[in-house]
Amino acid sequence: MALSIRRVGPGFVGEVDGIDIRQPLGDADAAAIHAGMDEYAVLIFREQPMTADQQLAFTRALGPLEQSIGTSLRKPDEYRLPTTFADVSNLDIDDKPLARDDRRRLFAIGNRLWHSDSSFKATPAKYSLLHAIGITSTGGNTEFADMRAAYDALDDETKGRCDGLVCEHSQMYSRQQIGFVDLTEDEKQRFAPVRQTLVRTHPATGRKSLYLASHAGGIVGWPVPEARIFLRDLIEHATQRRFVHAHRWRVGDLVIWDNRQTMHRARPFPADEPRDMRRTTLAGDGPTARQAV
Ligand SMILES: [Fe+2]
Repeated sequence: MALSIRRVGPGFVGEVDGIDIRQPLGDADAAAIHAGMDEYAVLIFREQPMTADQQLAFTRALGPLEQSIGTSLRKPDEYRLPTTFADVSNLDIDDKPLARDDRRRLFAIGNRLWHSDSSFKATPAKYSLLHAIGITSTGGNTEFADMRAAYDALDDETKGRCDGLVCEHSQMYSRQQIGFVDLTEDEKQRFAPVRQTLVRTHPATGRKSLYLASHAGGIVGWPVPEARIFLRDLIEHATQRRFVHAHRWRVGDLVIWDNRQTMHRARPFPADEPRDMRRTTLAGDGPTARQAV
């Protein structure tokens, strides 16, 4: 059966049929997935139970992996998964939900703010591939926002203001918004800001998109409060319901999103129930802006 993509929800989300991700990915299917990602930006694959190794093999068949080292507050000996995965579960190394006041959890729930994965790295992520192993009885949707449609809907004056701007991204800035400020010196060093362009142009389609995230805490050359208000207004604009799709997870779902063209956020779920989600990530092509020296 050939791979097919069906539009669901708003225009930027497609559901994929006719593929078993556990099987080696052929060139034609890989090309169809990339083309689908260029067109839609979010693709949903239902009923894809698979092992971690199968998820890795599928991801590698789509491009080079991004490693997840030092991006959470888990210490290296607390990693539940290899660094080829981002552990976005709420579980400790014994597969138990982290305590409500565990600082690793409190840092991690910053992903309930709108963001684009790894925008705090000089070379940010291309695709994220999130697989649901275990979900909670309620809550826990992931919401996606189409940053191409958001850019297109800006008035010309605002587009003109955005073009050419460079933002400073750090996980410290997103955590400041939720009052998580007690970082160690080592953590502050690890989370040093990087620069990202505010408007990205997609390499395949040529479409422009707003490259926003709650990690963005400044604009080069702007006073900080003015930059933060401007970025807050842009995020408010870009996350109007007409640009947003909520994905309700089922066990076995794999969802791929293009971080260059979308933002996303997790929604709340019961803290005492296990939620096991595994993310592999494709590395981006390179920096989006010249870094500070
Ligand atoms: Fe994320």
